[in-house]
Amino acid sequence: MKVLRMADQSLGGRRVMIRLDLNVPLKNGKVTSDTRILAALPTIRLALEQNAAVALLSHLGRPAEGEYDEQFSLRPVAIHLGELLETPVRLVTDWLDGIDIAPGEVVLCENVRFNVGEKANDEGLARQMAGLCDVFVMDAFGTAHRAQASTHGVARFAPIACAGPLLASELEALHKAMADPAPPVVAIVGGSKVSTKLKVLDSLSDSVDQLIVGGGIANTFIAAAGDGVGASLFEQDLIDDAKRLIAAADGGASIPLPEDVVVAPEVSESARSRVCPVADVGSDEMILDIGPNTAQRYAGLLAEAGTIVWNGPVGVFEIDQFGAGTERVARAVADSDAFSIAGGGDTLAALEKYGVKDEISYVSTGGGAFLEFLEGKTLPAVAVLEQRAADSE
Ligand code: 3PG
Ligand code: MG
Repeated sequence: MKVLRMADQSLGGRRVMIRLDLNVPLKNGKVTSDTRILAALPTIRLALEQNAAVALLSHLGRPAEGEYDEQFSLRPVAIHLGELLETPVRLVTDWLDGIDIAPGEVVLCENVRFNVGEKANDEGLARQMAGLCDVFVMDAFGTAHRAQASTHGVARFAPIACAGPLLASELEALHKAMADPAPPVVAIVGGSKVSTKLKVLDSLSDSVDQLIVGGGIANTFIAAAGDGVGASLFEQDLIDDAKRLIAAADGGASIPLPEDVVVAPEVSESARSRVCPVADVGSDEMILDIGPNTAQRYAGLLAEAGTIVWNGPVGVFEIDQFGAGTERVARAVADSDAFSIAGGGDTLAALEKYGVKDEISYVSTGGGAFLEFLEGKTLPAVAVLEQRAADSE
């Protein structure tokens, strides 16, 4: 289904409200990673170049509704954004009753999640937001899996509701990787728990050729295959699901499991680690990374791939002695000729740590939204734009 595009709208002199995902990490009142802010700049510039009166919306964290809490204020984001745009960005705290914005000016509205009814997608709140604009632009891909007043409700009632360029390119890249991918398709799903990624594992197992699992998820698969995992994090109650996925390899993806691993008695910088065959993990040892032979084998699969989808590291890469596996995988993805797409906060941090972010075909700004797309779910904030486009035909 189609959506209206921001690029096709005339914005000059109009009140343009743009929902972004500026939910960025902060420390001591400063932005520590501005990936999401940088990704929003072309969208903001597109509106400003046309002399629109621009109001930006975003959430930050998960504050309690109806209470202002400085910890969740977008003020640091407004300051950082102003520096990047080289023009001050006014933070508007009380904005629901109306905002004065001059054409060619951009303001940032305070955290949408301070408003009562945001999470519940309250219709009254959504109508109030819609009344503040002539054109509503949804460009918060990272929050497109939430049906909330500022991502979904407002798009029902705004005079025009369209997709911004970031949302459009995210969807295009995901379609390229999932709908009509160049074979063979290799997916890497890491992270700590099978339970949070079971749906994505299920859906990828049906659609990809090789499914590489990493982190705590891999431990559950190793245990399902009959090897001991010592003191490692793993999920006993998901062993049957892991077995089912391994058995599904006939018709679906094959799941290559590690042959060697890096183990240590504790997760720390100073822990004494060793590499061992997966059959030799001691009862008091934890698996914290894949071993060099496994990393080499995975790199070989990635070198042959036509398409690569990556979410989640394969080890505790934040600690260098457990990072070699993730580094090898990151370099293999970067070096491959495949169309590669990566998403999720930890994956992004790994790409940044190993300096290969620019060598990935597409780095998504989404975490949960990226996963839900891979699960085959409809993103509600996209569905409402499709509905509006269909209604306008
Ligand atoms: C994220 O960072 O995951 C998105 O901004 C969505 O945030 P949420 O999970 O609090 O809805
Ligand atoms: Mg999240």
